[in-house]
Amino acid sequence: MTEPQKLTTADGIPVADNQNSLTAGARGPVLIQDFHLIEKLAHFNRERIPERVVHAKGAAAFGTFTVTNDITRYSKAKLFSEIGKKTEVLLRLSTVGGEKGSADAERDPRGFALKFYTEEGNWDITGNNTPVFFIRDPLKFPDFVHTQKRNPQTNCKDHNAMWDFWSLSPESLHQVTILFSDRGIPKNYRHMDGFGSHTFSLINAQGDRVWCKFHFKTLQGHQTLTNEESSKLKGEDPDHATRDLFNAIAQKDYPKWRMCLQVMTEEQAAKHPDNPFDLTKVWKQKEYPLIEVGILELNRNPENYFAEVEQAAFSPSAVVPGVSFSPDKVLQARLFSYPDAQRYRLGGNYQQLPVNQPKCPVMHNQRDGLMASGNNGGSALNYEPNSAEGTPKETSSYAEPPLHLGDVAIDRYNHRPGNDDYTQAGDLYRLLNPEQQERLVKNILGSLSQARQDIQMRQICHFFRADVSYGRRVAEGLGISIDPSMFPATGKSVAV
Ligand code: HEM
Repeated sequence: MTEPQKLTTADGIPVADNQNSLTAGARGPVLIQDFHLIEKLAHFNRERIPERVVHAKGAAAFGTFTVTNDITRYSKAKLFSEIGKKTEVLLRLSTVGGEKGSADAERDPRGFALKFYTEEGNWDITGNNTPVFFIRDPLKFPDFVHTQKRNPQTNCKDHNAMWDFWSLSPESLHQVTILFSDRGIPKNYRHMDGFGSHTFSLINAQGDRVWCKFHFKTLQGHQTLTNEESSKLKGEDPDHATRDLFNAIAQKDYPKWRMCLQVMTEEQAAKHPDNPFDLTKVWKQKEYPLIEVGILELNRNPENYFAEVEQAAFSPSAVVPGVSFSPDKVLQARLFSYPDAQRYRLGGNYQQLPVNQPKCPVMHNQRDGLMASGNNGGSALNYEPNSAEGTPKETSSYAEPPLHLGDVAIDRYNHRPGNDDYTQAGDLYRLLNPEQQERLVKNILGSLSQARQDIQMRQICHFFRADVSYGRRVAEGLGISIDPSMFPATGKSVAV
């Protein structure tokens, strides 16, 4: 017989009695000294976290993405680098409007949120089972979602609200038609397609950009429910799709999807009859045929739903080198919205939760905050630029090519060239009377004298460039002799 394991408190202290509270006499009262009781009750009160504001009900599984076709001419993303390459993934499938306890068989779009754990960071495709969406301007999203949720007075679903909004928003008609078609209620999560829906971009090793759309074709075939079948299932097993996914994987009947791309060049986009970044429209497959990329397979159920599904955070903003955004307005708003929602729902350090942790080194200068786990950066410097050797530095080879939009280009513009960082600082120094200058230099010396000499030298140069006397006085105060002719007052910023 195996020995039972020792029950402990959260502090690891062995528990002597998990059946009887500590009381003064057999009939009570209970003592506040019973820390084990108090910890159990207090932790229980904190078990619920906010559910996702949309897509609250969902199921997820881990799996593998395997490349079957070479698309390196379009994307330098490492996960596509060679045929046969495998990348670990997490796929969360969901309904949209219902709460965390709602039925799976609703007539509702289905979420299709995929996280690739790549060697250059996590890439999320946070899509749906439809190639289009109800709106093309993100300003309308909160109002739209209100119409899908509960009436503020009755707390019931409200068909007036839904059709009021849709009838006033004709851009919704394409998605409404899909929603009320046979495909509007997938039989379960395995028998439906997935779409990135938005237009994204791919960038290859030469820095060439194409626009693209992502498709995931179910290899289980499409299966759907009628209204009658759905009503029955909602009563009999509100979790039927969640259960179906779990059981299929447990029985090693691993669901698979074929990942494909549609590609549009920048030249084609310029001539495209519609706005190619309009989320309410598809790109015709006759004109932009599907290009196979690989196979997505789900083959491992989560061990713990809360840890690995409820705490999972997907965001369209998580893209890896070789994949990027497009001007789609809805996509742009989503880039902000998801991490914002997750900071609220899971906390500012949500990327440190095991399910969200990248499977590659993470090196940045963000520190502290609630529930900072791990070593919080240890003793490493927590700022940049710095003069230390071996600290994480930007890698300019990852820069994306500029995106030209008419007269302007989206790019990271260097703010230094042509900017004068010295003249106004020098003017201010010259404006001060001698006593004020004296105090300024004294204050600077009080602090700068405690810095390392190489840092002192770098800073003295700036004082000289603003005003030679300013520089000389600081240098003298530090006991450093410098030839001021080395530092002509440039009136410009100088790279350091
Ligand atoms: C979940 C916002 C449009 C697919 C969410 C969440 C927010 C959100 C705040 C909850 C995130 C979380 O707590 O983790 C928005 C906004 C939109 C928008 C502001 C438009 C302006 C879309 C579109 C799609 C989509 C167009 C699909 C093409 C999803 C999916 C989830 C989700 C799949 C669930 C992710 C998961 O499984 O954790 N959305 N959404 N959303 N959204 Fe959207």
